[in-house]
Amino acid sequence: MTTHSLLILPGDGIGPEVMAEVRKIIDWFGSKRDISFDVSEDLVGGSAYDKHGTPLHDDTMAKAQEVDAVLLGAVGGPKYDDLDFSVKPERGLLRLRKEMDLFANLRPAQCFDALADFSSLKKDIVAGLDIMIVRELTSGVYFGEPRGIFNEGNERVGINTQRYTESEIDRVARSAFELARRRGNKVCSMEKANVMESGILWREVVNRVHQESYSDIELSHMYADNGAMQLVRAPKQFDVILTDNLFGDILSDCAAMLTGSLGMLPSASLGAPMANGRPKALYEPVHGSAPDIAGQAKANPIACILSFAMALRYSFDQGDEAARLEQAVESVLASGARTADLMGPEGGTPMATSEMGDAILAALDASL
Ligand code: IPM
Ligand code: MG
Repeated sequence: MTTHSLLILPGDGIGPEVMAEVRKIIDWFGSKRDISFDVSEDLVGGSAYDKHGTPLHDDTMAKAQEVDAVLLGAVGGPKYDDLDFSVKPERGLLRLRKEMDLFANLRPAQCFDALADFSSLKKDIVAGLDIMIVRELTSGVYFGEPRGIFNEGNERVGINTQRYTESEIDRVARSAFELARRRGNKVCSMEKANVMESGILWREVVNRVHQESYSDIELSHMYADNGAMQLVRAPKQFDVILTDNLFGDILSDCAAMLTGSLGMLPSASLGAPMANGRPKALYEPVHGSAPDIAGQAKANPIACILSFAMALRYSFDQGDEAARLEQAVESVLASGARTADLMGPEGGTPMATSEMGDAILAALDASL
């Protein structure tokens, strides 16, 4: 039996609380499904800064490069707002993404039937929604040079650079097309080719990859601002959305909220294949550290638990077990279980974080 190595980085805010529930789920798969994990845990973000004076220690970075997968909670919090930019909690996460070269960020936005009423949009617009945003994660304006705050005459100027090479666009486009083949066979690529040269090149390369290798997939293009509008107007027109780092950051938050709660959505960040044939990978919930509710047992652990389901699917070759976990979550929601973020206007008493974890464990037991 293979043992899968997994590095857990709970991080800050609600990160440790939701990760505690994932630990229970991991143990369940170990004891009930014989999928054994070699789990190690370390610090990232503000918690790493508190201990080491850096949001990601070199030893942690080295460990992340060696394991089969990394599972991260969340980073950041008001306590760290005044820190120098170079040691902000977010830099820890960005360093992981960059040095592991996790160029394809998969952000599914799925609306569970039981939650269709929670969306800020009308139920029929979101019920059954199932889209996948593929966000380029290691380049673009997040990393482009030159960057910085410089003196110019008698004032300062803040500079960031949007920059994409053909090969960077090519590889993330391939990820999106491959995914589309296993889903609804449609890719919509979003950029601003009307104002940005990087957008013109993006569109050109996506078209080329499409013609060369994926002409069976239906490809369309949209300017990203129109894409944002279409996402709230008629989100079900989309299957896979392919976009760059910054547009993907914004569009994925927008898509996430369509589903009712940011507390529901997982993500996978994938790089090039390792020796075992699986991609280098980091899994994390789309939500942040939510400092306003940290430490109050209010956090919804589902996004983090579903991120582990993505790890089962993409890193551990356990697609059936991933589906088992996703179905357990779905059945718990269908039974009316709700954390605070999922309480409707009719009110009621929300479940604590650990109660939601336990309910999912019970549903897993029932699945056997
Ligand atoms: C995200 C977050 C990050 C990003 C932050 C925390 C650096 O917003 O993963 O979407 O901007 O990429
Ligand atoms: Mg974001």
